[in-house]
Amino acid sequence: VKTSLTVAVVGATGAVGQEFLSLFTARQVPVGELRLLASSRSAGKRVAFEGREVEIGLLSAESFRGVDVAFFSAGATRSREFVPAAVEAGAVVIDNSSAFRMEPDVPLVVPEVNGRLVCAETRLIAVPNCTAIILTMAVAPLRSLGHIERLIVSTYQSASGGGAAMMELLKDQTAAVVGGPGYASLDLEPLTEPYAFNLFSHNTPIGNDGYNEEEQKVIAETRKILGQPNLRMSVTCVRVPVLRAHTESVIVEFSGPAPSEDDIRYVLEKSDGIELVDDRENNSFPTPLKATGKDDVLAGRIRHDAGNDHAICMLIAGDQLRKGAALNAVQIAEHAFGLRQKSV
Ligand SMILES: NC(=O)c1ccc[n+]([C@@H]2O[C@H](COP(=O)([O-])OP(=O)(O)OC[C@H]3O[C@@H](n4cnc5c(N)ncnc54)[C@H](OP(=O)(O)O)[C@@H]3O)[C@@H](O)[C@H]2O)c1
Repeated sequence: VKTSLTVAVVGATGAVGQEFLSLFTARQVPVGELRLLASSRSAGKRVAFEGREVEIGLLSAESFRGVDVAFFSAGATRSREFVPAAVEAGAVVIDNSSAFRMEPDVPLVVPEVNGRLVCAETRLIAVPNCTAIILTMAVAPLRSLGHIERLIVSTYQSASGGGAAMMELLKDQTAAVVGGPGYASLDLEPLTEPYAFNLFSHNTPIGNDGYNEEEQKVIAETRKILGQPNLRMSVTCVRVPVLRAHTESVIVEFSGPAPSEDDIRYVLEKSDGIELVDDRENNSFPTPLKATGKDDVLAGRIRHDAGNDHAICMLIAGDQLRKGAALNAVQIAEHAFGLRQKSV
């Protein structure tokens, strides 16, 4: 076990990048040298970390000499361009972008589900799409109760999934509509629909099959993480005017009669990284606000599908900047370097 790691964070100024810094401290990652990297927009700025001031460096192929672990969260284009240089330099690369997720020889890892795929020799590990991480966290444990045949998923995705700029856009539009000049004044770019007090089909391009890119990613990546390439899935991704944390309505269909609600609750409650929030009496279930800043994925509203006795329904919510991105990546590093996992 290394006592001090040279760590690079690519995209350090972004919504995910900022989460890394607080997680390093919270989980007591032994960070020695810290290289924070971004574009020329941010290079030269200084960031405080654990009592030191770290200057943001300009990302280049030379940034990775001597780096033990490099966390990439600066978009797929940057990953495609610079991940090979980081691997070449000998770093373990943990990539939050979509660039390598579906490469057959790149493990796509949610540690609680398939952390066994990470070993000392693995150089490049992909972090799945945030919606897929939150989904597989809640679905994988249910496989101990029966074979899962089909998933039907509807999402309520927050602004933070679109990065720091989309969070600002939601705040600005909300201010403009409440007591400001109103909808007619809004500059919708880069979206096509108003965001304040509205919701819309996920703002990624739609394919010929009618599924947008986000839905396609959730389907392909969920199948890969669960190791079920033929899992039947139908996914509808929607952006809602929530600042942070994604919520998902999930229908899980088993090959035989559905397990009891109590068994589902029992299994989820015992699962690492899941918190059961299922209080019918007080109508208290998972919400994005309850999930915000939390490591656990919240699961609740567990009930039988009234139209299918092989299926159950549930509502899940998770902070996609943490478990859906930075936390999942840090947990992978903990596996790769044999770091003792600290509870936060
Ligand atoms: N948001 C999420 O929930 C989430 C979840 C899972 C995965 N991801 C993935 O994580 C990545 C970042 O997402 P985010 O939400 O953090 O986005 P963001 O807030 O927009 O941050 C983007 C980061 O990338 C940097 N960057 C952009 N262009 C660059 C360039 N040419 N060279 C070097 N750095 C550059 C930016 O630096 P500057 O300050 O210099 O602009 C910034 O640090 C994306 O690949 C995204 O798909 C995001």
